[in-house]
Amino acid sequence: MCGIVGYVGSKQVTPVLINGLKKLEYRGYDSAGVAVMSDSSDEILVKKSKGALKFLVEKITDEVVKTSKDMSDAQAEKRLGELIEKTGTIIKGNVGIGHTRWATHGEPSDLNSHPHTNVSGTIAVVHNGIIENYAKLKAWLQDQGVVFKSQTDTEVIAHLINYFYEKTGEIFKAVLETLHRLEGSYALGVLCTKYPDRLIAARKESPLIVGLGRGENFIASDVPAVLEYTRDVYYLNQNELAVLYNDHVDLFDSDGNKVVREPSHVEWDMASAEKGGYAHFMLKEIHEQPKALTDTLRPRLIFDGDKAKDIQFDEIDFGEDWKQAGRIVITACGTAYHAGVVAKYAFEKFARIPVAVDVASEFRYRNPILNKNDIFIVISQSGETADTLAALRLAKAAGAKVIAITNCVGSTVSREADEVIYTWAGPEIAVASTKAYTTQLMCLYLLAIKLGKERGSLSAQQYSRLLSEIAAIPEKAQQILDNQSEIQKFASQQFNKSKIFYIGRLFDSASSLESALKLKEVSYMHCEAFAAGELKHGPIALVDPDTLVVAIATEPELYEKLASNIVEVKSRGATTMAITLDKKGAFDNCCDSVITIPDSEPALASMLSIIPAQLFAYYCSILRGNDPDKPRNLAKSVTVE
Ligand code: F6R
Repeated sequence: MCGIVGYVGSKQVTPVLINGLKKLEYRGYDSAGVAVMSDSSDEILVKKSKGALKFLVEKITDEVVKTSKDMSDAQAEKRLGELIEKTGTIIKGNVGIGHTRWATHGEPSDLNSHPHTNVSGTIAVVHNGIIENYAKLKAWLQDQGVVFKSQTDTEVIAHLINYFYEKTGEIFKAVLETLHRLEGSYALGVLCTKYPDRLIAARKESPLIVGLGRGENFIASDVPAVLEYTRDVYYLNQNELAVLYNDHVDLFDSDGNKVVREPSHVEWDMASAEKGGYAHFMLKEIHEQPKALTDTLRPRLIFDGDKAKDIQFDEIDFGEDWKQAGRIVITACGTAYHAGVVAKYAFEKFARIPVAVDVASEFRYRNPILNKNDIFIVISQSGETADTLAALRLAKAAGAKVIAITNCVGSTVSREADEVIYTWAGPEIAVASTKAYTTQLMCLYLLAIKLGKERGSLSAQQYSRLLSEIAAIPEKAQQILDNQSEIQKFASQQFNKSKIFYIGRLFDSASSLESALKLKEVSYMHCEAFAAGELKHGPIALVDPDTLVVAIATEPELYEKLASNIVEVKSRGATTMAITLDKKGAFDNCCDSVITIPDSEPALASMLSIIPAQLFAYYCSILRGNDPDKPRNLAKSVTVE
């Protein structure tokens, strides 16, 4: 996720910006940059660089951080600190904005790094978020003669502010006019040479705080960036703007009316501030799912007023290849593979097209049969998983059209695939995947529903109903998170069980796989997933009073069958829990605990039923004294076989 820092005060601003950005490194980034209001000329000085912050520092100072091969990490860190201080003697000024970028539109590069400016360089902008209507705005600006330098959505903001500045002659008005035309999410910091004493900030959906110092004020994406200087902050509300001067800050609503309110006082220490007050990144990322799902969904939905009327993937050509496809082949590893298994049910149900799903490490070695009219989909959060990449290359060599679903712009998978669909989950720091999984599901469901329409297997009415249902998923995810105490309580009763089984039928058997993996990874409890109907073909032999069986139940026609499976394990002494859509008591008699998820279309409920399972895994991990963010023996990105 991008990180923003801004400063107005009397200190040399460049080191303040870079040190602030260092405190936001945990958010993940691929490039960095600063823009500083020069103290000696009427211009904004901009420096940016792809890669780690140290490359930006090296570019500014023209010196290297690591001067000898034998330099220890501690020495290199100390020298980096010295060079950061030195940047203040090179780029001089007291007002500035800085940015670490997590690429969305356009690969990581010097050019695509923020800050972005208008053509004359008199306005500079940093942005976190996604501008959904940027293509339309860009085309319009190009018609006005604007020449773009980058591939980013952010650059349109700088040019648009410039356009309105030329019309209104007032920077605040120009920013307001611009914001009224932006669709999507943003946290913004804006500088203008005509107003060298101030910094304008705004937010919608993406986080932004204002830090209040003495004779100095700050903006930042998150509290850690300002904690060294102040604990008094405004958490900017939705659609709010702030204008920062060195001695005061004015807040405004989206119509430009002044807002007056008391700042908040931050009590967190640095470690919990990085996690937004959550105890762990895993919990933070579980809680980020409503936003991640919205970010992934919204740019692909076309609305008529409040009603979703169509799905549109700007990034892929939904042409004859898709309509005439004979089969979809999905390949991935781990959690991403589980998203593929759910997708098999979705594609087959909505688009009536056969789907083969394969673990990439198997696919690559079994001389797979690929047909000309197969659509080949790889799923990878990191876009760097060795086995998934090998499978992708194999499919390409066989002449298949390869679509990648990934979370990382510029990753190897994204570069080598024919077409890429991005999940907009933002960086995932915890090793166990949570928000990447649900956003992968969101992309796959959108594809399946769209394909169902194109191939005529969904009626207009069914299509329209599914669109309304999918549009409501992020809000329902939030409702589950708002009621997590039941799961926490259940975990506190069950975290010492020696065996856990997840069971389900159809979509729910697929969700069981991912639920069991989450629990294994972070709690180290022995956990397996079975299609419920398979229990009596063997696994039931394992059931005893030390077993917990969790049934995922979102298929109303199969509730009775599933309830019979639960009775079978309960009569052998197992403790039982259901995660279900049912509100009529179908599982009340056979389950010790029932977690009800909000009413929704059963075929889409996999995006919801996983959330209680993620929380259960997280709380079991904590109760067993583990670190859920760094499970033993696991790495975030598996770049070796
Ligand atoms: C589990 C997990 C892993 C990954 C797998 C594939 O929580 O994160 O199972 O899903 O290693 O990684 P990507 O999606 O990066 O290819």
